[in-house]
Amino acid sequence: MTTTKGLEGVVATTSAISSITNDVLTYRGYSIQDLAEHSNFEECIYLLWNGELPTDNQLDIFKNKLAENAGVPNEIFALIKAYPLQTVHPMAVLRTAVSALGVLDPDADRMDLLSNKDKAIRIQAKIATIVAGFARIRQGAEPVAPNKNLGFAANFLYMLKGRIPTEVETRAFDTALVLHADHELNASTFTARVCVATLSDIYSGVTSAIGALKGPLHGGANEQVMNMLEKIGSLDNVNFYIENALASKEKIMGFGHRVYKNGDPRARILKKMADQLTKLDGDARYYEMSVRIEQLLREKKGLLPNTDFYSATLYHALGIEKDLFTPVFAMSRTSGWVAHILEQYSDNRLIRPRAEYNGPGLRPYLAMSER
Ligand code: CMC
Repeated sequence: MTTTKGLEGVVATTSAISSITNDVLTYRGYSIQDLAEHSNFEECIYLLWNGELPTDNQLDIFKNKLAENAGVPNEIFALIKAYPLQTVHPMAVLRTAVSALGVLDPDADRMDLLSNKDKAIRIQAKIATIVAGFARIRQGAEPVAPNKNLGFAANFLYMLKGRIPTEVETRAFDTALVLHADHELNASTFTARVCVATLSDIYSGVTSAIGALKGPLHGGANEQVMNMLEKIGSLDNVNFYIENALASKEKIMGFGHRVYKNGDPRARILKKMADQLTKLDGDARYYEMSVRIEQLLREKKGLLPNTDFYSATLYHALGIEKDLFTPVFAMSRTSGWVAHILEQYSDNRLIRPRAEYNGPGLRPYLAMSER
């Protein structure tokens, strides 16, 4: 047996959902650049789940289903209200709330494709309402009910802030959701596949994935980027901070990638949007600091930004609180997790690798008196 730490370079499955080849990311064969420019989040969800772009009519039906399923049972918000709201991390709330959705769904264990697709719509739609609702509840306000006339991106911002977002805000947020929707066999997607490969239910798969996304080496990096920008504070402090961090071998959040070695294509698109939005916003401080950090890391370590780096500035400019950055990532990535869960069910094999044992050799049991 040979051990590959972190499974680096190991090909664990075949998948027809998304690919990263020569630093080009595609969903079902469409490049992320094309999708970011021409598509929208609902269309991408449909594409990921069904393999093809929807017709006008198919998209209308799909959007309506999402809008109709966005309401969240009262039990979920009652549960959230019982949590230590000022200290709990929203990702922990989201993980628990999605699990609770499964408890409340009488169809949770139905395994036929139609039932799973219906549950997928319910999870996808409700997850946005949960994130926005939690944000309101911890501010002492009541959740804002979903607005059926708004698309997914606009509706989330509406439920979060209680006002209809501008077209520029909606477009920027919608594009960010498109960019984060899927990413081949990343850690959380692999987690989801491992979970459902035991023939566990879709709620368990998404709940496990949320747990994996929460970590700072995965989805949690976007929040850490914002923490870093706040800590640095101003453009003048960037050089000093980065040089110190590199000298003490600290990892700079939002940089580096296991798969992309010549740069993450999503980061380039997000950078452009962060630039536009912060200019409109009239506060480009974090964007300018980010550009300087990018220059320094490229010069000093040859490291390039990943998707989490500029999404931090972008979400900040959209008025999203920093600890909601990862839940927002989860809202988008749910579409990819679900696509992978459905694919796993369609041709399932239990995922059960081996470990190379490096503990003590076989030894006789030690009686209590001899320990
Ligand atoms: N800051 C400083 N040095 C870094 C960084 C970084 N962000 N990333 C990699 N390096 C260095 C690392 O110290 C190592 O140097 P050396 O060979 O001298 O020890 C070398 O680059 C290789 O690093 P690695 O950690 O072995 O690379 P990996 O492929 O295992 O890790 C990574 C990929 C994303 C975990 C890592 O780059 C990292 O920890 N980045 C910061 C966290 C982050 O931004 N995560 C989001 C990832 S993208 C979105 C997602 O998938 O969720």
